[in-house]
Amino acid sequence: MAREDMKREVIIACDFSSAEETYRFLDRFTEEKPFVKIGMELFYAEGPAIVRELKGRGHKIFLDLKLHDIPNTVKKAMAVLSRLDVDMVNLHAAGTKEMMVAALEGLTRADGSRPILLAVTQLTSTSQERMNRDLLIPGTVADCVRHYAKNAQEAGLDGVVCSPLEAGIVKEACGKDFFCVTPGIRFADGAVGDQVRITTPEKAKEIGSDYIVVGRPITAAEDPVAAYRRCVCEFE
Ligand code: C5P
Repeated sequence: MAREDMKREVIIACDFSSAEETYRFLDRFTEEKPFVKIGMELFYAEGPAIVRELKGRGHKIFLDLKLHDIPNTVKKAMAVLSRLDVDMVNLHAAGTKEMMVAALEGLTRADGSRPILLAVTQLTSTSQERMNRDLLIPGTVADCVRHYAKNAQEAGLDGVVCSPLEAGIVKEACGKDFFCVTPGIRFADGAVGDQVRITTPEKAKEIGSDYIVVGRPITAAEDPVAAYRRCVCEFE
């Protein structure tokens, strides 16, 4: 996808444990074809077949496997993911700039095309206290996100995954064309769960998210299609 074809979009996190459960969920969407995120749980359970199937059904796919390993391993793994024809993939910025450059090389096909590559900055479940204490990263989460985003940009990546609350900081540091894909979205009247750095779809749009990734507020809703439409309406 070229940058100029992009528009703000809601991505549904299909955090299900089987293909059957995923199809049952997606079959409820008769009028729209949501952009979906396949994460570790579903990919490890079903393998590449689930990607091919959902692609075949016409969904755009964000394959959220958050790679983090030595550069050579990540490069080879990205080459495999690129052949799956997904639209978006990611890795951990903590893997270093060298790893990100290698990933980009692996991901790029012979004709120069490739999926969007994003770097996870700090997970939206990580608080500053845990980042300082457990990861031994000093300073604020915002400092770390800014630094990781700049590293990702220097490595040639397309954007980052961060909290919607940090999208403004990233845009300021890296420019408006550098994507901010943001989980940690909750409706103003909804449950928070294990997420920490969160906001609403409307506020995420205001701060600068390009894509919001929404899981439980849609997947656990009594009426998922209505919840999805509410997200689209508040965000796009
Ligand atoms: O259910 P919920 O809306 O919290 O789902 C958020 C999704 O985004 C989950 O699939 C989670 O793994 C993912 N994610 C996240 N924070 C990040 C990166 C990915 O919550 N920084």
